[in-house]
Amino acid sequence: MVDRNERETDRPIPADTSRSPPEQFVEQANVSDPAIYDEFEDSWPACWERAADRLSWREEYDTVLEDEDAPFYRWFTGGTLNASENCVDRHLESGRKNHVAIRWEGKHGERETYTYRDLYVAVNEFAAALRELGVEAGDVVTVYLPMIPELPIAMLACARIGAPHNVVFAGLSADALATRMDAAGSEILVTCDGYYRRGDAFNQKSRAENAKLSLEADVRTVVVDRLGAQLPHVLGEDEWDYDDLREEFSGETVDPVARESEDMLFLMYTSGTTGDPKGVVHSTGGYLAHVAWTTRAVLDVEPEDTYWCAADIGWITGHSYIVYGPLALGTTTVMYEGTPDYPDRDRLWEIVDRNAVDVFYTAPTAIRSFMKWGEKYPDRHDLSSLRLLGTVGEPIGPRPWNWYYTHVGGEECPVVDTWWQTETGAVTISTLPGVDEMKPGAAGPALPGIGVAVVDENGVSVDPGETGYLTLTRPWPGMLRTLYDSDDRFVEEYWAQFSDPDANEWRYASGDTATVDEDGYVTILGRVDDVINAGGGRLSTMEIESAITDVDGVAESAVVGRSSDSGDTKIYAYVSTGGRSEANAELRRLILESVESAIGPIAKPHEIVFTPELPKTRSGKIMRRLLEDIANDEELGDTSALRNPEIVGEILTDRDGG
Ligand code: PRX
Repeated sequence: MVDRNERETDRPIPADTSRSPPEQFVEQANVSDPAIYDEFEDSWPACWERAADRLSWREEYDTVLEDEDAPFYRWFTGGTLNASENCVDRHLESGRKNHVAIRWEGKHGERETYTYRDLYVAVNEFAAALRELGVEAGDVVTVYLPMIPELPIAMLACARIGAPHNVVFAGLSADALATRMDAAGSEILVTCDGYYRRGDAFNQKSRAENAKLSLEADVRTVVVDRLGAQLPHVLGEDEWDYDDLREEFSGETVDPVARESEDMLFLMYTSGTTGDPKGVVHSTGGYLAHVAWTTRAVLDVEPEDTYWCAADIGWITGHSYIVYGPLALGTTTVMYEGTPDYPDRDRLWEIVDRNAVDVFYTAPTAIRSFMKWGEKYPDRHDLSSLRLLGTVGEPIGPRPWNWYYTHVGGEECPVVDTWWQTETGAVTISTLPGVDEMKPGAAGPALPGIGVAVVDENGVSVDPGETGYLTLTRPWPGMLRTLYDSDDRFVEEYWAQFSDPDANEWRYASGDTATVDEDGYVTILGRVDDVINAGGGRLSTMEIESAITDVDGVAESAVVGRSSDSGDTKIYAYVSTGGRSEANAELRRLILESVESAIGPIAKPHEIVFTPELPKTRSGKIMRRLLEDIANDEELGDTSALRNPEIVGEILTDRDGG
């Protein structure tokens, strides 16, 4: 198999560059006994009781794992619980009511603090309001909010009344919002007037209104007033102001609804190979157990910590590791609304310093920017409060890894490179920071209880160092339960490729390629499907292509990822105009506009190459691999299968500015 993603990571690390966990870290780590791996192995799947037992159950579960209907696995069945009760109420009962739950840092230096008691009040009042608006257990509530405290409050209020939430990243477009609401059959929306985007007051409400225009259902809408006089707004019919509702239900409490362990806690749409976004369904018991356990075991978070995951709650990382994981543990979770470079490039370090953050979790793309900006920014601040650093979302090469370890962690904090996905719900591959050696560039071994295999097309494990498909060989508690309304697609997308249903052997296909070394450490290479990891989320090339071909004058398009020098993935679009190949400024503008309006600004191509035709095989399939190679300045493979080989020369001339 061609290792097309080799360029994305510097090659894995010779073993002699591995690092041991710092001693003072190990001494206090939540998990420091290597026996944990064997203990989990020896008692699988009962080992996962350890995770479930960190939660408060209304009714104890009687079965850890039911696999009769695989791959529709069921975890902790017979048990009932409520996620909001686990993340809020029980900390009040355990005497932590005045402990800070959320420390919010606004873009312009505003600050808000919610103790667990404050959070309890807010969640209850908003839950009462949602009920009054007719939301019942099982109704999907869509939340379209930027990084403001009302976002986790809305999520927890939904969880409290048993209404699954469907959070749509605030930067996605009206069309994307409408598609997701429609697919989820969601008739209630929580949004805001607007938020700050690159210094401007951006009107989120008008975007939500546009989405609603294309929905058949009458959508009831709650509007949070984020910008006040900066962006005055008027409420229409079926629209309520969040603060007014809170006031109306001031002091009200709502009993948390007992949910079955397998009941849906939330839905999260993510991109797949084909155009329609997939509604990933997460359960209540298994999901919460898995995120709580990994927050403790992998991120080493303690209730007394100030913990900061600098992601957006609009993606899975924020759901699991800004909201549910840390709040389930009763810790202080930091939420930051702004960007790392505003007002200056030391903003994050200023926040770490001022809040004495213990654990910090971010993405390689951010780390590469920090590295580019230079160590003078972290050097301006006292970062000695940090105890552990984490990374997630893309491969991190040894260079950024070492930079992070040295300049942020002062060589005293272990770095956990955590591999997981929207679908896995929580971390599945990572070192245990108090146990394992770190190998910069490799994520690590499968966590205790998780089964990983890197396999060839036939599902046979490849030799150490060989590239193959990353699969998970056993179910795990945080796993997606299905795709909303599409059980068939769930089986098809994740299980069909490497499973043997007749033998009742099931294996999850992650969609990533990877290598594994002799010690079982997995190095992720990239995705096999047409998905680009960009801007903290996942984008489907097909979705972008369809927005491009919506533009008059465009015949066809093909979108591929280009790994930039900084290691980030840039979006590269080939556009055929059916004859003409001259770059057309107006067409370019329309394309960018169309993509922004269909998906959002994060999906806008960084480069557009116009071409009379796209290179195609004789059977008419676009040769994406070739286009990807061209975008990445790779040597071109065999083009003999092309029907129109001459087009390659034209594209190359075009790309090179000829
Ligand atoms: O390609 C892998 C990459 O991100 C994909 C999952 O994206 P998403 O569902 O948006 O969730 C991102 C955050 C959990 C994976 O299929 N990925 C995630 N973590 C890593 C990674 N690639 C390399 N190393 C990681 N640590």
